[in-house]
Amino acid sequence: MKMSQDLAPIPELYVSYESAQKLKVEAADLISLDLTPRQVCDLELLMNGGFNPLKGFLSEADYNGVVDNMRMADGTLWPMPINLDVSQTVSDTVKIGQDIALRDQEGVILATMTVTDKWVPNKSHEATMVFGADDQAHPAVNYLRNTAGSVYLGGPITGIQQPIHYDFRGRRDTPNELRAYFRKLGWRKVVAFQTRNPLHRAHQELTFRAAKEAQANLLIHPVVGMTKPGDIDHFTRVRCYEAVLDQYPSATTTMSLLNLAMRMAGPREAVWHGLIRKNHGCTHFIVGRDHAGPGKNSAGEDFYGPYDAQDLFREHQVEMGIEMVDFKQMVYVQDRAQYEPADEITDKENVTILNISGTELRRRLSEGLEIPEWFSFPAVVEELRKTRPPRAKQGFTVFFTGFSGSGKSTIANALLVKLMEMGGRPVTLLDGDIVRKNLSSELGFSKEHRDLNIRRIGYVASEITKNGGIAICAPIAPYATTRRAVREDVQEFGAFIEVHVATSIEECERRDRKGLYKLAREGKIKEFTGISDPYDVPQNPELSLETESVPVDNCAHQVILKLESLGLIKG
Ligand code: PPS
Repeated sequence: MKMSQDLAPIPELYVSYESAQKLKVEAADLISLDLTPRQVCDLELLMNGGFNPLKGFLSEADYNGVVDNMRMADGTLWPMPINLDVSQTVSDTVKIGQDIALRDQEGVILATMTVTDKWVPNKSHEATMVFGADDQAHPAVNYLRNTAGSVYLGGPITGIQQPIHYDFRGRRDTPNELRAYFRKLGWRKVVAFQTRNPLHRAHQELTFRAAKEAQANLLIHPVVGMTKPGDIDHFTRVRCYEAVLDQYPSATTTMSLLNLAMRMAGPREAVWHGLIRKNHGCTHFIVGRDHAGPGKNSAGEDFYGPYDAQDLFREHQVEMGIEMVDFKQMVYVQDRAQYEPADEITDKENVTILNISGTELRRRLSEGLEIPEWFSFPAVVEELRKTRPPRAKQGFTVFFTGFSGSGKSTIANALLVKLMEMGGRPVTLLDGDIVRKNLSSELGFSKEHRDLNIRRIGYVASEITKNGGIAICAPIAPYATTRRAVREDVQEFGAFIEVHVATSIEECERRDRKGLYKLAREGKIKEFTGISDPYDVPQNPELSLETESVPVDNCAHQVILKLESLGLIKG
């Protein structure tokens, strides 16, 4: 099949600089929408022609056609609904025929839209038709059901300016910039490789082979807009891609970043990706096994068959005007010290085939184990190690909880000193009393104020953890739900070790170091934890400390042993 390449500029939705200046002033009188990060991604590709032939957010008729049979009302192939979703409250303020201003999160105006359509979509139908099931285990269904507004607005866009990006500016290209680049270099055939993961040797081999097979140049076209939740951040990935670029023969390959918000919609997503690459001037597109797969559904099964994406792409490629190159699964044959396509190895029984899965790679990174050179490039591994240092170098939070006078502060101080003696990471103690003096001086002891206090401690601890430090927290933290929320905040960046200082209320009252229990009994201090206010005993702490018959030094040592057993400090 011959795909003709047409590198003439494609239509954009931007107006001239002068008109844009005028529109910016006039837009001050319009109703404004601050777009979500996903809507900003969609708008950028609408305006720069990446979503050509779309001229704006879909009208209701186009939406219905796209959802039901991947075609707009006029029959044009388009697999993905691109909608401006808003809340019912916002929708109530907007009238059909009205112009509205579309702004980014900082309020910078990007475009205006003439609202031609406003409707309440059937989200269950959309989820089933577009994503294959109304199942919230699918990230895009989850977004549709829990984040997207309940009303869709449709209408043509007038582009005023591109969203601003401060990172990797030289690596971002509009479709027309890429087209001009290919024209300038005389690249008549270009195969695009879509990715949301770091490139390892197998990817480099397969992309190089794909380009050779198609006798084409290669465009590495990674997505930096929004990918699957939990993916490696794009800053790290782009540094990895830059390291791999040197591995291709010079002048055959280039890289450009695509600010797309992926939906992980498998087959439909593959067709969408193909159309977007066609708009960027490419003639070929690599589609792999389980392209843009969302993972398992709530029954633990795959949402799509492994080759559904290839099948749907193949069915539509002539109409799309971009040819599929099917991804060869490349495996490392140790005996010949090279990568080979798995289906071309004829002596499988006699050779050793090596592979490292994604899960195994993550395990090796977190334990600081070797990642062999046959698997990845040293420069890529170095970048990944910076982002995912081994556990013994990651930040973490030790969160003590217990009654006033239970010994939290004393044990926390002993732990602080022991960790400082070991060195290696900065350690910060966020003790209950100290926090109340410095961070929460205006707060009292109502449930609301205690929660606010703990959430503040959690915020600071999560920042410390993110930046590779150790946070030791020692508040009473009487409420289980608040402790869980702090755990979630911290676990985004590192380990959270909850330590219950399980001294009984009777023992705390007997010690009564600060004389507060006496005052509480006399009713002179209200809402006193354990006396006149609740304490939820932790159900599953990482560690529970018995303090009544055990010296402080030993309690702190138990925490150290726990940290060692979790791999957070080296013995
Ligand atoms: S909380 O619930 O986590 O916000 O409490 P916290 O900030 O850790 O409380 C710190 C110290 O405040 C003293 N204090 C009280 N504790 C409990 N209830 C009431 N009503 C109260 N009023 C004052 C108490 O001495 C706490 O001390 P320690 O011993 O550090 O836990």
